[in-house]
Amino acid sequence: MFDIKIDESLPKEAFYQELSAQLEGLFYGERDLICNAAQLSAFIMQSVPDLNWAGFYFLRGQELVLGPYVGKVACTRIPLTKGVCGAAVSTKTTQRVTDVHQFPGHIACDGDTRSELVLPIFAGDVLIGVLDLDSPIPDRFDEKDQFGVQELANIFVKSTDFQWALDVG
Ligand code: SME
Repeated sequence: MFDIKIDESLPKEAFYQELSAQLEGLFYGERDLICNAAQLSAFIMQSVPDLNWAGFYFLRGQELVLGPYVGKVACTRIPLTKGVCGAAVSTKTTQRVTDVHQFPGHIACDGDTRSELVLPIFAGDVLIGVLDLDSPIPDRFDEKDQFGVQELANIFVKSTDFQWALDVG
């Protein structure tokens, strides 16, 4: 069994550094894409406070298709012209949305979601999908969360083989 040790009293930088070290341990000896994407989704939901959804959408042609996640059942396909996830892909930049109700085209998969952090995931130069974190709290994510979650995503990328996603994408 893999125990995640969480000290929520740490300042955010130290909290995410601690999580990063533990995530390296979780991925040790495993490079499968679906396995690691599922583990990262659960790891984030278990360790990062105040979330209601965490998981992946993978790019398939001109739309995103739901991947491994933890949370309520979600929209299965997202066009690149829609939503926070579509914006992350079409702009190739992280979207940190303080109030989803103010975001044009936001897709409400879970009506409880109030703020959202969506990071594009690259295998080398190729954008293969997004990592999406949702919170029921408005303005839940600050720059420190963005930096910390980006570090978790970087560990996922370097620990994972993406050939399968590149073949079917
Ligand atoms: N809200 C997202 C859709 C995905 S769900 O939140 C899981 C969006 O606007 O792209």
